[in-house]
Amino acid sequence: MNDVTVALVTGANKGIGYEIARGLGAAGATVLVGARDAARGATAAEKLSAEGIVAVPVELDVTDPVSVSAAAARVEREYGRLDILVNNAGVLLERGQKPSRTPVEALILTYATNVYGVVAVTNAMLPLLRASAAGRIVNLSSGLGSLALTSDPDNFYSTAPLLAYNSSKSALNAITVSYANELRDTPIKVNAADPGYCATDLNGHSGPRTPAQGAAAAIRLATLPADGPTAGFFSEDGAEPW
Ligand SMILES: NC(=O)c1ccc[n+]([C@@H]2O[C@H](COP(=O)([O-])OP(=O)(O)OC[C@H]3O[C@@H](n4cnc5c(N)ncnc54)[C@H](OP(=O)(O)O)[C@@H]3O)[C@@H](O)[C@H]2O)c1
Repeated sequence: MNDVTVALVTGANKGIGYEIARGLGAAGATVLVGARDAARGATAAEKLSAEGIVAVPVELDVTDPVSVSAAAARVEREYGRLDILVNNAGVLLERGQKPSRTPVEALILTYATNVYGVVAVTNAMLPLLRASAAGRIVNLSSGLGSLALTSDPDNFYSTAPLLAYNSSKSALNAITVSYANELRDTPIKVNAADPGYCATDLNGHSGPRTPAQGAAAAIRLATLPADGPTAGFFSEDGAEPW
């Protein structure tokens, strides 16, 4: 075991997750590039390696308990600890239908990744994060998960009728606070990041921000100093209302 920071980013083969991996790698971390598809993960890790980043593909489907425990076992075997976990993998499965026309199935499928997947990965990796001197957990939330923003009729976010996605991110915010409270007496900090509206496959590349801009808040939270916050929700500009 050496002193290099070991960071795992889920869903790091593209989009904001890729840029988070890139940013953490550029800062000197060994980046474990989580990807549910081994080939896509290998390609992303190769691209990062070509930039001089130490990037290792790790097959990880956050909805598959066997995949999650295999990934945790591998991190344990190869590194003995985990310093940074970024729960980035996420899906947006709705295409603008109203809440009243949203089937429960859409919530079940969305929550499988955005909510249950985060809990499964966090629980599996927590013993490894406890073995770190300064564990950091960052959950990729969204302004669309903010009840303060989406309940304001003057806010653009109140016009996004994404029942499953928005509520999955509100749940993720609650989950972030729950873990932070459990871990308050440890060095581990747990925060939620709002990347802003970024152009990625998730939204048909409709956002005005780049994935690299979206990665900034998560990278900052993943590298917080010992006196940094926990149980918070932050965009690149600062604290975000819950
Ligand atoms: N883009 C935005 O404007 C925006 C705004 C706020 C929050 N966010 C959040 O930011 C995060 C990243 O989103 P993005 O915009 O970068 O989306 P993206 O380009 O669609 O990337 C999503 C990533 O998650 C992975 N993924 C999906 N399901 C998975 C599973 N079961 N197991 C493992 N990986 C899985 C995808 O893998 P595959 O390539 O295999 O599909 C992909 O690597 C998400 O949590 C999203 O909700 C995005």
